[in-house]
Amino acid sequence: MHSILIIGCGSIGERHLRCFQTTGRCAVSVCDANAKLLAEVSQRYNAPGFTSLKEALAGRHFDAFVICTPAHTHLAIAREGAAHGAALLIEKPLAVTLDEIAATRSAIASSARFTAVAYVFHSFPWVAAARDFLQRGTFGRPLHASVNAGQHFPTFRPAYREIYYTRHATGGGAIQDALTHLVNAMEWLIGPMTRVFCDAAHQRLDGVTVEDTVNITARHGSVLASYAMTQFQAPNEATMQIHCEHGSIRIESPAQRWGSMKLGDQDWTWHPTAPLERDELFTAQANAFLDGMEGQATALCTFDEAVQTLRFNCAALESAATGLPIDIS
Ligand SMILES: NC(=O)c1ccc[n+]([C@@H]2O[C@H](COP(=O)([O-])OP(=O)(O)OC[C@H]3O[C@@H](n4cnc5c(N)ncnc54)[C@H](O)[C@@H]3O)[C@@H](O)[C@H]2O)c1
Repeated sequence: MHSILIIGCGSIGERHLRCFQTTGRCAVSVCDANAKLLAEVSQRYNAPGFTSLKEALAGRHFDAFVICTPAHTHLAIAREGAAHGAALLIEKPLAVTLDEIAATRSAIASSARFTAVAYVFHSFPWVAAARDFLQRGTFGRPLHASVNAGQHFPTFRPAYREIYYTRHATGGGAIQDALTHLVNAMEWLIGPMTRVFCDAAHQRLDGVTVEDTVNITARHGSVLASYAMTQFQAPNEATMQIHCEHGSIRIESPAQRWGSMKLGDQDWTWHPTAPLERDELFTAQANAFLDGMEGQATALCTFDEAVQTLRFNCAALESAATGLPIDIS
C-alpha cells in the first residue's frame, strides 16, 4: 500500500484524491492551506488532513506527493518532495517560468524517484491509440497539424474569477491553463514545437482580463501547425487533425474517438473507445503513476516533456505580447 499526499485539495486535488482512493492501491492524505476546505474534503473522503506541508511531514513519510496547487508553487513543492524522497505527480502547467527548472531537475535526479506531470491527455485511450497508429508510419510522415478546441469555461469552472486563472503569474489565461493541454498532446503525437507565432486577446469572459481566445501558427520541426481556442464558445470540443503523406488522422476528445482516412477514401474510419467517465480517465492516470512508482513503463508525461511544453507556454505569451514569432530552443 503506497502512502500518497495530495497537496492542494481544490478542484483537481479533490478529483485526484477520489481517483487515487479508487485505485485501491494506496492510502491517501491531503494538505491544503485553506483550513475550512481541508476539513470538508478530509471528512468527505475520510482522509487525514494537514494545513501545511510542514505539519504533514512532521514525523511522517509519504511515498509520493501529488502536487495540485497553482502553477507558480509547483516546483518549490516538488523540490521539498524530492528532498523527502517522494515520487512526484505534478499538475500542469509545470510552472510559469523556466527559472526553477534546473534546480528542480537536479533535486529529482538526486532523489531518483519516479516523476510525472499530469497532462491527462496521455491517459486518454483514443489519443494513445492514434499515437500508436502514427508511430507505425502507415500514413508516412506528418506534414500538417491543426487543433480546434474550446468550451464555455464559466459553465465548466464557475469559480474562474476567484482562482489562479485570473493572472498569468499564477498560471492563468487560456494559453497556460487550457491550450497547454492540446500543445502537450500534439508534442506527444508529432514531436516538440520549435516555433510559435501567437495572437491572443480577452474577448468575452466577465470579471477577468487574461486572454480567453488564442490563434497560433507554429512549427513542430518540419510539420506546419495551427491552433485555435476560445473559452467562451458554445461547443465543448477538442479536435486535432494530422495530415500525413498518405492519409490523415483526426482525434475528437469529448467524443472519445479517433479516425483515419487514407488517400482515396471517401470518409473517416472511426475507432471509438468504450465511453469513459472523467474520473475513470484520472483513475487510469493514478494507476499509471503507481505503476511508474513500482518501476513499470508508463505513457505519462515526463518532466522533460512538460518542460518543453512550458517553453511553449512562455514563448506563446511572449509572442502575444510582442507581436513577433518566437523560436523555441
Ligand atoms: N489536469 C487537469 O485537467 C486540471 C484541471 C484543473 C486544474 N489543473 C491544474 O491543477 C492546479 C490546481 O488547480 P485547481 O483548479 O485545483 O485550483 P484550486 O484553486 O481549485 O485549488 C488549489 C488549492 O491549492 C491550495 N493551496 C495553494 N497553495 C498551497 C500551499 N502552498 N500548500 C497547500 N495548499 C495550497 C489552495 O488553498 C486551493 O485549495 C493548477 O496548476 C491547474 O492548472 C489541472
